[in-house]
Amino acid sequence: MKILVIHGPNLQLLGKREPDIYGSASLKQINSRIRKHAKSLGVLVTVFQSNHEGEIADKIGSAAGKYDGLVINPAAYTHTSIAIRDAIAGSGIPAVEVHLSNISAREEFRRHSLTAPVCRGTIAGFGSMGYLLAIEALARGE
Ligand code: DQA
Repeated sequence: MKILVIHGPNLQLLGKREPDIYGSASLKQINSRIRKHAKSLGVLVTVFQSNHEGEIADKIGSAAGKYDGLVINPAAYTHTSIAIRDAIAGSGIPAVEVHLSNISAREEFRRHSLTAPVCRGTIAGFGSMGYLLAIEALARGE
C-alpha cells in the first residue's frame, strides 16, 4: 500500500511556529515519526510539503493510480481552497484530513473546513499522532 502525505503552508515552520498550539516537534521530526510508523505497518509513504495551493493541487492531481491513500493537512487552505477540495474529490483516492490542533476549539474562521467533506474522515487535536492514526485507518481500509 502506498500513501501520500501532504503538509500545507507554513508547516515547514513547525517547532518554531506557535509551539504552544502546534507543539515543539519540527516537520523533519514529524516526518521521521510518520515514516517509522508507516514502515511498521508495511506501508510505503511519500511526504510532500508546499506553501503553494497550485503545487498541492498538482501533486494531488498526479496521484491517481499511484497512491492508495492520501493523508493531508491542508493547513490554512483547509478554510479557503476550493481548488484543493476539488483536487481531492477528483483524485478518487481515499483521503484523511489531519490537523495538529483542534480546529473546532479555535477561532471561528478555522471551524469550517472546505476539504473535510471530500475526505473519509478528519483527525484533529492530537498533534503529530494524527498523521499516524490517519495512516493506520487507511492501511486498515477503514
Ligand atoms: C492547522 C490548522 C489551520 O487552521 C492552520 O491554518 C494551520 C495548521 C493544524 O494543523 O492545526 O496552519 O491545519
